[in-house]
Amino acid sequence: MQPTSFTVNGSAVSVTADGDTPLLDILRNHLGLVGTKFGCGQEQCGCCMVLVDGRADKSCGKALSTVAGREIVTIEGLGTRERPHPLQQAFLDEQAGQCGYCLPGIIISAKALLDRNPAPSPTEIAAALDDNICRCGSHIRILRAVERAARLLREGAGQ
Ligand code: FES
Ligand code: FES
Repeated sequence: MQPTSFTVNGSAVSVTADGDTPLLDILRNHLGLVGTKFGCGQEQCGCCMVLVDGRADKSCGKALSTVAGREIVTIEGLGTRERPHPLQQAFLDEQAGQCGYCLPGIIISAKALLDRNPAPSPTEIAAALDDNICRCGSHIRILRAVERAARLLREGAGQ
């Protein structure tokens, strides 16, 4: 087996595993990045979203072999407990979650949106989160949190 090299949260990594292994398993089981969650394993729920070259993608359906040379960002790459990303701060401020299991995937999808559209409309936010399921039904607070994060970022937070 040849190692597969790529970047995770700004650091170069090289992983030796079967090329068909889902990126989600590599992140969680080989690299210890357990912030990205397993939900359905069938590209249906969005729990496992990561950024791949800046685009939100479901890591449960992405084979290791397809990420060679790519830049991956997981929820751990956004902020820290001491210095949360404005999106994370906005989700805290809006209390936008109950169990929280869906939130890493939702925040990653929202990050991809705000990176390409700093002032999305409520409709655009809902559309960007269409691939993310929240089983607790926190949708209204989640939408409010993304709007709040967009405002914070436009005001220069997190720079
Ligand atoms: S775990 Fe990947 S979409 Fe559900
Ligand atoms: S907060 Fe529980 S699944 Fe979304």
